[in-house]
Amino acid sequence: MEIKTAIVGLGSVNRRLLNILAQKRERLARDYGVEFKIVLIADSSGVASNTEGFDPSAIVSAKASGRRAIDFDGALPGQTASDALCACACELVFEASPVNLKTGGPGLVVTRQALRQGISVVLANKGPIVVAYNELHKLANENHAGLKYSATVCGGLPVLNIGQRDFIAGDILKLRGVFNATSNFVLDQMTEAASYDDALAEAQRRGIAEADPSLDVEGWDSANKLLIIVNSIMQANISLDDITVTGISNITPDFLLSEKQKGNSIKLIARAENDQYSVSPVVLPSTDFLAQCQGWEMAVEMHTDIFGIHYYKLWEREPIPTAASMLRDAVHIFSAQPENNVVRKKK
Ligand SMILES: NC(=O)c1ccc[n+]([C@@H]2O[C@H](COP(=O)([O-])OP(=O)(O)OC[C@H]3O[C@@H](n4cnc5c(N)ncnc54)[C@H](OP(=O)(O)O)[C@@H]3O)[C@@H](O)[C@H]2O)c1
Repeated sequence: MEIKTAIVGLGSVNRRLLNILAQKRERLARDYGVEFKIVLIADSSGVASNTEGFDPSAIVSAKASGRRAIDFDGALPGQTASDALCACACELVFEASPVNLKTGGPGLVVTRQALRQGISVVLANKGPIVVAYNELHKLANENHAGLKYSATVCGGLPVLNIGQRDFIAGDILKLRGVFNATSNFVLDQMTEAASYDDALAEAQRRGIAEADPSLDVEGWDSANKLLIIVNSIMQANISLDDITVTGISNITPDFLLSEKQKGNSIKLIARAENDQYSVSPVVLPSTDFLAQCQGWEMAVEMHTDIFGIHYYKLWEREPIPTAASMLRDAVHIFSAQPENNVVRKKK
């Protein structure tokens, strides 16, 4: 099946996705019967379209050499991705533009437009889901479009997939997680006696922190991920106002060191239990699963009624697993039950 595809955002995540699409092209066709034909690309400069399909590797090379969407053959001057979708035969949008947690940003505009047209959307960008969770699901249902966003939480960790697909008739009674690598890194560095400011500056220098790091260290990135998770897999229907959020900016190196001497760690923990939702720094014994979540790792622990207690941890240094999750979502939309249908063949 050929899937006419739009790529909105040509930054870190979608460039990795384009590399995967090039690298796994034959595998996707052979094992899953899907071929992604890229008919539309968009970045901050604008949009270009090509009904014959852009070469994914050529897009990555062009962006690396400083070209913008508007410099490609097929550029549509003055149009946004949302405008271009109206005039384009397209079946899928991979959306990874910058997050805007107040308005949903351009990601929400293009997601709404696509779903209204019955075009499926796969998001890495949390903004649209955080701002318009119910509206987007309603639009997707009304227009028979797929809407998936497993890459918005914990990168490549399939938290939403497990919760939605595998806990058949099961309930998650309690969920705890470490969802933000910047906070984790800052706390780790401070435990080694760095000051809060120096640790945060180092996180920014290494490119882990968001452009506005307050989202990370004040707990809002974790709160947004918690919101998406509990609304998606714990039958909650909450907004950010329902989550009590405390960040790590008041934690001192002295406190971290004294807890370390007692065999404890401090982690920024997102938690859902008994309809109570919070993000806050928590003192954990070093034997706790989440205390062992270091540096680049993200982790989640799910206590269920009939499936036992699940522990998942992921190491993700650059967003290849995030991009792979977008691919996974797309394959799930376009193959009814890929895990059952696939017979992996030898090359
Ligand atoms: N990086 C991660 O580890 C990670 C993990 C999970 C989720 N996410 C989410 O994924 C999204 C993308 O992240 P990223 O790291 O790839 O960001 P990025 O490297 O900053 O890339 C953002 C891309 O969006 C483009 N863009 C800006 N305004 C646009 C508009 N109005 N319409 C279309 N495209 C526009 C930018 O264009 P230019 O190229 O012209 O600047 C750039 O190509 C974000 O929402 C982020 O929160 C990221």
